[in-house]
Amino acid sequence: MLEKIKELSKQIEDFKIESKEQLENFRLEFISRKGKVTVLFDDFKNVAPELKKQMGQELNKLKVAAQSKFDALQENMGTNKVQGKNEGADLTLPVVPNALGSLHPLNVVKNRMIEIFERMGFNLSEGPEIEDDWHNFTALNFPEDHPAREMQDTFFVQKNPDIALRTHTSSVQVRTMENQKPPIRTISPGRVYRNEAISARAHCMFHQIEGMYIDKKVSFADLKNTLYHFVKELFDEDTKIRFRPSYFPFTEPSAEIDITCNICKGKGCNICKYSGWVEIGGSGMMDPNVLSNCGIDPNEYSGFAFGMGIERVTMLKYQIRDLRLFTENDIRFLRQFKGAE
Ligand code: PHE
Repeated sequence: MLEKIKELSKQIEDFKIESKEQLENFRLEFISRKGKVTVLFDDFKNVAPELKKQMGQELNKLKVAAQSKFDALQENMGTNKVQGKNEGADLTLPVVPNALGSLHPLNVVKNRMIEIFERMGFNLSEGPEIEDDWHNFTALNFPEDHPAREMQDTFFVQKNPDIALRTHTSSVQVRTMENQKPPIRTISPGRVYRNEAISARAHCMFHQIEGMYIDKKVSFADLKNTLYHFVKELFDEDTKIRFRPSYFPFTEPSAEIDITCNICKGKGCNICKYSGWVEIGGSGMMDPNVLSNCGIDPNEYSGFAFGMGIERVTMLKYQIRDLRLFTENDIRFLRQFKGAE
């Protein structure tokens, strides 16, 4: 038996393997179920008991030698195997694009608006979306049972009509005035809610940026100049702004802010209702009642306030014709704003 083992060991050592076929032949000849090494194991049962230990060790050595020669060469050729696999892949195919997210267009524009106002010295203030009557209405000079409250189609909390979803971020301005002393120059961006039918132009949930400036001798000219500068910065030098007399309970005098329609460039479209002008918000001088409601002496201080819809401004900036696109999360829409920030 020892002879056989030696003989086989030599054969295994000398066996030349240079191709996959030779490797397979090696496997068949030595280590397969009917291979020479395996067959020798079958003979093992005939070995005299006193020799078993020694023979067993030799046999095992032989088996390990055969197997490791096979494994090593298979691994070598295995690299070829992997290459072989790749041969099937079409390397000219375009790579799968890296799906990196980006900011929502409303955030892109909101950030830009904040940046412009911050450069003019405004700071940021925030407040709750669920508001009480005082901050959303009463402090802002909306008399009780006055139709002005209807103006904003409010969502009230059924069990407590004193609590509502805020209809504008003017509520944040009330909170700021209650907690700070003039001079105050602040903007409050945020989400607001109104009970409106959803259409291309309106939604029951949208975003506003409201701003106010309270100090000694603040005038309407300050308001006009601030917004004039803002519009030129956000859009371009060619964009015009106009103030249209209006009414808000919390400002006197009050004015709507219109700018030239950036979608049709004044030619007329469904967004500007074929007038060439679009409203982007409201503005005015703080009503003295509001100042005193919030603990500021109207004889000493005056102020202006304005509020704009972020959706409306974004639609104009990027020529988007339907406001519903902002909330549909259609990737084909959102993807177009990659890099806009
Ligand atoms: N709060 C008003 C609105 O939601 C906008 C506004 C703000 C008007 C400040 C005048 C002054 O419509």
